[in-house]
Amino acid sequence: METTRLSVTDKPVDTLASDLVVYVAARRKDMPPACDPKIEARVKKAHELGDFSGKMDEELLYYPDEDKKKTGGRRILVLGMGKDDPDEDPGDFLDTLRRLGGNTAKVCEKTKAKTLVVCVPHMGHTPVEKISQALAEGILLGDYRFAKYKKTTRKKSDYEGLKEIKFFSDTAVKAVRKGAKMGVTAAKAACVARDMANEPGNGWTPKQFADYAADLAKTHGLAYTCLEKKEMEKLGMGGILGVNQGSSTPPCMVALEYNPGKKSDTLLLVGKGVTFDSGGISIKPGSGMEEMKYDMCGGAAVMAAMAAVAEEKPGIRVVAIVPATDNMSGSRAIHPGDIIHHFNGVTSEIVNTDAEGRMILADAMAWGIKTYAPDCVVDIATLTGAVIIGLGHHYSGMVSNSDALYERLSAAGKEAGEPVWRLPLNKDYEKQIESRVADIKNVGGKPGGTITAAAYLSKFVDKTPWAHLDIAGTAWDFTEKSYIPKGPSGIGVRTFISLIRSWKKWEKQR
Ligand code: BES
Ligand code: ZN
Ligand code: ZN
Repeated sequence: METTRLSVTDKPVDTLASDLVVYVAARRKDMPPACDPKIEARVKKAHELGDFSGKMDEELLYYPDEDKKKTGGRRILVLGMGKDDPDEDPGDFLDTLRRLGGNTAKVCEKTKAKTLVVCVPHMGHTPVEKISQALAEGILLGDYRFAKYKKTTRKKSDYEGLKEIKFFSDTAVKAVRKGAKMGVTAAKAACVARDMANEPGNGWTPKQFADYAADLAKTHGLAYTCLEKKEMEKLGMGGILGVNQGSSTPPCMVALEYNPGKKSDTLLLVGKGVTFDSGGISIKPGSGMEEMKYDMCGGAAVMAAMAAVAEEKPGIRVVAIVPATDNMSGSRAIHPGDIIHHFNGVTSEIVNTDAEGRMILADAMAWGIKTYAPDCVVDIATLTGAVIIGLGHHYSGMVSNSDALYERLSAAGKEAGEPVWRLPLNKDYEKQIESRVADIKNVGGKPGGTITAAAYLSKFVDKTPWAHLDIAGTAWDFTEKSYIPKGPSGIGVRTFISLIRSWKKWEKQR
């Protein structure tokens, strides 16, 4: 996947040698599916025999005549996309295209195809640039695999993914090139986040977050900061220090800043980077605990989004912060009942050491806002099991103090196929985290667990427009689709990229 090349051509398809050529066909009522005239005869025949109607997820795979094989594709794949409905929601249509891309990747895996030609469909209702972007995303996201630790069980014949993709368009090469490039950047960034998440707790520690950020900074000229334990102590970051107390691995507060070099808005992204969450002294049950290596998916999302930012150089300043630590129960571990002092002076009674995400995010957000004076802050975290009860695995939960930021993020999520659902926040929920002995406590009881976690975070953003994304239900086990593999989804990365690409000047009064 990292090495997959994608280019765009207007040379006749028949002259492009490849393992597989892909076309898209749309279902029509009482008629053969609409498709490229080049494949019309075959599609018509398959339709007559009842083998292919153009329904979504239907596939027609055939082998071209001998003479054509030498110069063109060795296999032809026609993908059904369902009815071509100009009134369909644009976000849903883009997701259909991504799924077609994912379906393509699955057939490539089955046939071990290394080289692919895609005949980009043109549809009046959607710019071909967007079509190309979504298809490229879907193919690369669907072609993802993580085989780093498969050593002795790996066979030479194992499929290693696509090597070369060509997008064909005879009328719009420039637009297709632009869209495909955006798709590749976004998909590769999401796959970076998946790679980080797939790493086990002993393969991805806080230091790996720091090293990744330092590397990105060096390659692209970004500003890199990493606060180590001593500096955290000086700054009074009792949240991240408290969580780290039971661990033998030091914490890091990693910050990466992209500056466009002119006056602009500043967007601050903060991602939870708990590289393994055992629960600490409030230890989690053993069954399924291995999944808690994914508790750094928020951190992965903001760092991977920075990889795209570094490449695309948008006109807005973007800062990403990852408070990184594991949550362990060593002999110095924080006790239930302990009281900590956060960076902004707020004291907190730690009732449950498993509610550690909010403790590290609190310091990161308060410090980030003080240091970078952002116009808006978005945090992203695998924060609560409660969000899975409420929304399942299909929506990320959102809590925000700003309607305008909610709207921007919600639109970006829709565009990326990563939907979010807003939950409320008010004084009644804030009351649930009042402590008898400190300013606040770190749990608010079972009712509204996702919201009371956000209520905790709200104490650290002051008046800054802020949105919180709870991705505990979507960071892995996300809605099953052809371009979402089992394991980590890379959620958030493409939402952030879409948000940044479409950024309009922030109006201060909102
Ligand atoms: N990392 C977990 C949240 C989580 C749970 C993510 C399940 C993915 C799947 C978080 O640190 C946590 O343990 N939260 C507790 C909070 C509770 C103690 C108030 C939870 O949700 O149970
Ligand atoms: Zn926890
Ligand atoms: Zn956690």
